[in-house]
Amino acid sequence: MWSDAMMKFYRRYPVVLARGEGVTVYDEEGRSYFDFLAGIGVSSLGHNHPRVRTAIEESMSLLHTSNWYWNRPAMSLAEKLSRIAEGMEVFFCNSGTEANEAGLKLLRRFGSERGRFHVISMLGGFHGRTMGAMALTPTPQYRDPFRPLPDGFSAVAYNDLAALESELQKTQAAGVVLEPIQGESGVVMAKPGYLRQVSELCHAYDALFMVDAVQTGMGRTGTWFGFEHESGVSPDVITLAKGLAAGVPVGAVLARPTVADALRPGEHGTTFGGNPLATSVAMVVVAWLEQGGLDHVKRVGKVLEDQLEAIKSRHPESVGEVRGRGLMWGMVLNLANTRVVQRCLDRGLLVNAAGGNVLRLLPPLVVEQEDIIAAMAVLEQSLAEVEGEG
Ligand SMILES: Cc1ncc(COP(=O)(O)O)c(C=O)c1O
Repeated sequence: MWSDAMMKFYRRYPVVLARGEGVTVYDEEGRSYFDFLAGIGVSSLGHNHPRVRTAIEESMSLLHTSNWYWNRPAMSLAEKLSRIAEGMEVFFCNSGTEANEAGLKLLRRFGSERGRFHVISMLGGFHGRTMGAMALTPTPQYRDPFRPLPDGFSAVAYNDLAALESELQKTQAAGVVLEPIQGESGVVMAKPGYLRQVSELCHAYDALFMVDAVQTGMGRTGTWFGFEHESGVSPDVITLAKGLAAGVPVGAVLARPTVADALRPGEHGTTFGGNPLATSVAMVVVAWLEQGGLDHVKRVGKVLEDQLEAIKSRHPESVGEVRGRGLMWGMVLNLANTRVVQRCLDRGLLVNAAGGNVLRLLPPLVVEQEDIIAAMAVLEQSLAEVEGEG
């Protein structure tokens, strides 16, 4: 199954996915799988969505323009996102790591005019694989082989406000970066009140507050960006990618105009960012979320939560905690999460082993109640099978 022509960066499962329809994907042998990973939170409208198909077909006459010229889909998407983010300005790129790289350049550039450059991030956070994003990502396995990294970064414990305050005092930081829910390290939730308090601390210490909403954004948790569940959270910069264009590569940075103005023409850019193909499809996602999608995520998210809690209550020895929001869920296991993932795959369900021995579920946002019930039956059978293996 393995192609010798590809670099061996991934430990892939021996499955070749060939097509998809709704929340189901099919391999080359025709076996079907409930896709409760959605390409790691990307395929927000599932597979082969008719409106995505139409947007792609209509983009065929002009796939790319470069940023020397304007194009209507990018202009419309920027207007929409700006309105949703209460007047923030938008920069388009092509992935989450690039969005964070651009966000970091905004923090540094804005800070440089005030003699500040240090950036504080959170232990357990994940922000991508480019050098700046790795400097923000303190987990040694992701970054230690690539030292030396860019200078001027430190990390404090997530949910520890006192640690953040003392680091802000010590470093005169230009900015603080965090995820509203830490995805890769196992769906780790911010404590109630924490995001608002971080936001207030940043503003009290003249540091910018950057929210990495790459995984939590675009409806994943039932709101636009994943931090609005609590009032008073007021970021200066927000980064997006993953589900923004339902599977077409895209990223975006939103920033308050005063922060956005810190980067001057020529100081940042990208060839592909904001192309008509990606931005047309992103408009379909935004329209779906506006036209009832956010409420749908909250409604079916509750179904998923109830199902996971029920599995936990029937398997108290194997399941520790169930945590998440909307359609982003983690189940802390006392059995090896990788074994459960493998059994789920064998039985036709795609889920993911995240950090902290967590089973992570990120189904397409269009998932329906009956899909959830059927998929969770597969999950429970797989869990029971691993329990039986001892
Ligand atoms: C919170 C967060 N930020 C950034 C990234 C990096 O995104 P990409 O893989 O598109 O570069 C990820 C990817 O998992 C993520 O979860």
